[in-house]
Amino acid sequence: MLNLSDDLQFILDAAVWAASGDNGQPWEITVHSDMHFTVRVKRDDVNVFNITPLPDLMSLGMLIENADLAAKARGKHLRAEMKDELSADIFLEEHTPDQAVNVVDLLPYIKTRSVNRFPFKRKALSVEHKKILEACLDEDMTIAWYENNAERFRIARMMMASTNLRLRMPESYQIHKDIIDWNEGDSAEGLPVQALGISALSAKALKWMLDKESRNQMMARIPGATLPTSLELDFIPAMFCGAHFVVAFDPEKCPEPTAADFLRAGHAMQRFWLTLTKQHICMQPWYIALVFSLYVDQGIEFTTLRKQAEKLHAKLTGDVLNPHNISLPHVFFTGRVGAPSKIPAARSVRRPLEHFVASAQT
Ligand SMILES: Cc1cc2nc3c(=O)[nH]c(=O)nc-3n(C[C@H](O)[C@H](O)[C@H](O)COP(=O)(O)O)c2cc1C
Repeated sequence: MLNLSDDLQFILDAAVWAASGDNGQPWEITVHSDMHFTVRVKRDDVNVFNITPLPDLMSLGMLIENADLAAKARGKHLRAEMKDELSADIFLEEHTPDQAVNVVDLLPYIKTRSVNRFPFKRKALSVEHKKILEACLDEDMTIAWYENNAERFRIARMMMASTNLRLRMPESYQIHKDIIDWNEGDSAEGLPVQALGISALSAKALKWMLDKESRNQMMARIPGATLPTSLELDFIPAMFCGAHFVVAFDPEKCPEPTAADFLRAGHAMQRFWLTLTKQHICMQPWYIALVFSLYVDQGIEFTTLRKQAEKLHAKLTGDVLNPHNISLPHVFFTGRVGAPSKIPAARSVRRPLEHFVASAQT
């Protein structure tokens, strides 16, 4: 049992419902007092999907945004100060009456927000919906929407290239094997098989393929072997959605984004995702294509399948970013949105709060 004040328990309990890559939940929380705690991103589990800290910074920003919403609901003001690139000191202060925030309208969605990897309805988002979402971003951030069939098709092709690389590269085999939870129902430590967005038959085939590394590598050498999976995981969902989007810093307003800027971007994306949820719209990030392309851009050697990685980078920049004049190093989030066609039968949930709190010094 943690010895936390009721308010702090409430705030931390909301905080850890942030999204994280593959539901890794890489956070360590040190409580210094009822009004002060530190959150650190643990980098012990760094793998090919988070060699650079971008996804972890997104996720940390999302966690702090959740804490901020919960703090407001308890009449508190939250101030975050970055300690270093991967940790932040969080100070809570009592509101004076004139600072009081009355409306915490996103709070109810912290625990219901969840990624949906199934195809969505193709109905476009209304102008009004898009305006509300754009208002979640800071003034130095821009969003590009991709809505017509030609754009969807180019993104679908690029996403298939990303999955083809991911499923074939030896560096990702163990990660895929470890993160999928094959049991039915919710998963507190990984991705439940029922939330992957694939049919029961494909799930069986995937399990068989991942069962042995030698089998996985043998399949990886067969041309076309990843095609059925990437059609189901990427092509169909990419074509069946309301829109794709790319969110980036405006290079004129934020020429060289720092870790603090990317943390701020995480806050904005959490507001964005919660606002979507409130509007009954769902979202799936397609982040791997972004992360791998950034590695290529930065000259980071992350796979022996170098040619495929370069092709993916060329597809993302040439087919998706350049037509909208978006600079790759300024991008911080990519995904698709739409009204749900199917709600996953299971979702990723979170480890108990005790898991994250390294020491409670209250
Ligand atoms: C930075 C970041 C990148 C992510 N990238 C992907 C992605 O490429 N594909 C995907 O299906 N989900 C992606 N997710 C969603 C996470 O897998 C998901 O949030 C996590 O498993 C927890 O599940 P929940 O959002 O349903 O609570 C990403 C999440 C974050 C924060």
